[in-house]
Amino acid sequence: MSQPKPQTRHFLTLLDFTPAELAALIDRAIEMKREHLAGVDQRRFPAKVMAMVFEKSSTRTRVSFEAGMAQLGGHAVFLSPRDSQLGRGEPVSDSGRVISSMVDIVMIRTFAHAIIEEFAAHSSVPVINALTDDYHPCQLLADIQTFVEHRGSIAGKSVAWVGDGNNMCHSYINAARQFDFELRIACPEGFEPMAQLLNANADRVRIVRDPAAAVAGADLVATDVWASMGQEDEQKAREKAFAGYQVNGELMSRAAPGALYMHCLPAHRDEEISAELMDSPESVIWEEAENRLHAQKALIEMLLQSAAG
Ligand code: CP
Ligand code: NVA
Repeated sequence: MSQPKPQTRHFLTLLDFTPAELAALIDRAIEMKREHLAGVDQRRFPAKVMAMVFEKSSTRTRVSFEAGMAQLGGHAVFLSPRDSQLGRGEPVSDSGRVISSMVDIVMIRTFAHAIIEEFAAHSSVPVINALTDDYHPCQLLADIQTFVEHRGSIAGKSVAWVGDGNNMCHSYINAARQFDFELRIACPEGFEPMAQLLNANADRVRIVRDPAAAVAGADLVATDVWASMGQEDEQKAREKAFAGYQVNGELMSRAAPGALYMHCLPAHRDEEISAELMDSPESVIWEEAENRLHAQKALIEMLLQSAAG
């Protein structure tokens, strides 16, 4: 049985790639999108197989990875805890060893970030983080691609995060570091991102409680649901805590002229974001979702090529 190799590359957070690698990945995603839309045959990885492990629900992530593998000439295998031994207590380390011995690449959506780290430590093939409680790096690839397509480089720009200090916010903090932008976070007290991450990026990331102050002059405003998967019981309490944190036309009027706004989706319309903004012809939210496909195909290509040596 294959053993984990020390040189196996994984994508568990944005920090697993260098800023230069991330910039190249975004360029490649834009190029692959163009190819795809022009009908170019992209089946460069025939017979390559991806295992997709989903311990939480998904629409975008599942469809984009599965369609992406098919477009690249490979195949994807969907696994959920309900109908695999993952749900019956087989250790993550054993699952990592076994699954990775049969496929070429693995994508995991799970709860604790430590689970994906443990899986990766026992995997002989690249592992991609498709969302944990702490990070959602694939979404940031799509968000940055979308910004670059519309406004050019995000380096030196100012970005406002309005809402929960959650997995998306954490990945925005990592993105600020890797793509070199300033990030202002507007969140209510008690809903801050991880202190360790904030402290490590204090040169470019700060908490600005007031959404209007955080958004003032921003080139990009991003938000996400107030209660993430696994926090459904807190929905009502969070609606109260986050009152006043909605991204809407009034808030966007304080941003820089031509500022973009993003939401990873799924959204609660008229809660964290107004339906008016979502339905506006100016919205790039739908392209942001589509770009998951293109950005992740570039990611798969990069990881499969790195595995091939
Ligand atoms: N944005 C995102 O990851 O969506 P899904 O939960 O539908 O995969
Ligand atoms: N923060 C959200 C993102 C969903 C894509 C969640 O974890 O549920």
